[in-house]
Amino acid sequence: MRQLQDEKQVDLLNAVFETQESERKRLAEDLHDSVGQVLSAIKLNLHRLDKAAETENSTTLLADTRKLADECIQEIRNIIQNVLPPVLTDFGLIDALQALCTKLGQNTDIKITFTKNLADERFPSEIELTLYRIAQELFGNAVKHSKATSIQLLLTKEAGWLVMSFSDNGVGFNMDNVSHGFGLKNLQSRVQLIDGKIHIYSKPLNGTLTTIKVLLT
Ligand SMILES: Nc1ncnc2c1ncn2[C@@H]1O[C@H](COP(=O)(O)OP(=O)(O)OP(=O)(O)O)[C@@H](O)[C@H]1O
Ligand SMILES: [Mg+2]
Repeated sequence: MRQLQDEKQVDLLNAVFETQESERKRLAEDLHDSVGQVLSAIKLNLHRLDKAAETENSTTLLADTRKLADECIQEIRNIIQNVLPPVLTDFGLIDALQALCTKLGQNTDIKITFTKNLADERFPSEIELTLYRIAQELFGNAVKHSKATSIQLLLTKEAGWLVMSFSDNGVGFNMDNVSHGFGLKNLQSRVQLIDGKIHIYSKPLNGTLTTIKVLLT
């Protein structure tokens, strides 16, 4: 029993590390591909401005450089949104999920419905962050794999439990012989770390329903 328990702990920790590592990797890639590129262009322009002095039309170059700087600032905002969205820390899970749904609704053809059966309230920060991360992964999976035309996200309280359920009407998958990426594994470990429960129901051609619940104390 003891050994089994220890092995489980190790597995869990490994999954946590993998989560962190893949998030850092993603952050590094994002920074490299967006901000890094734009900053390089800004640097090059400034160098040219310096050399061109009066020989070139420096106003165009300056305007261009200013535009690049604006782009850079916007990119940084986007990256920060993905790493830890300010709306989550400032206004909480409900507003952050709402913002996530709105953004996805604008960027995809999927009809997204967000229903919340609870008052505007805040939850412990580790619960808010975990549920937000899970929603991000589930949205990612639905967009990447499901071919769904509609997604329903529901946040509700039932007898002291905070419940988030996420369903898509897409192609579904066979839970027994799916090749697990990090995504589904990470969901399990994230939920375990907040002492929650997760159920994923999916059948080929029948969409996917994921329910996460955590006891509020
Ligand atoms: N909503 C969904 N609809 C259809 N298939 C899904 C859905 N969610 C997951 N799957 C299937 O389950 C597999 C495993 O999902 P998982 O999130 O673990 O990995 P991934 O999304 O492929 O990669 P990663 O999450 O690491 O970027 C997917 O490759 C896909 O085949
Ligand atoms: Mg995934």
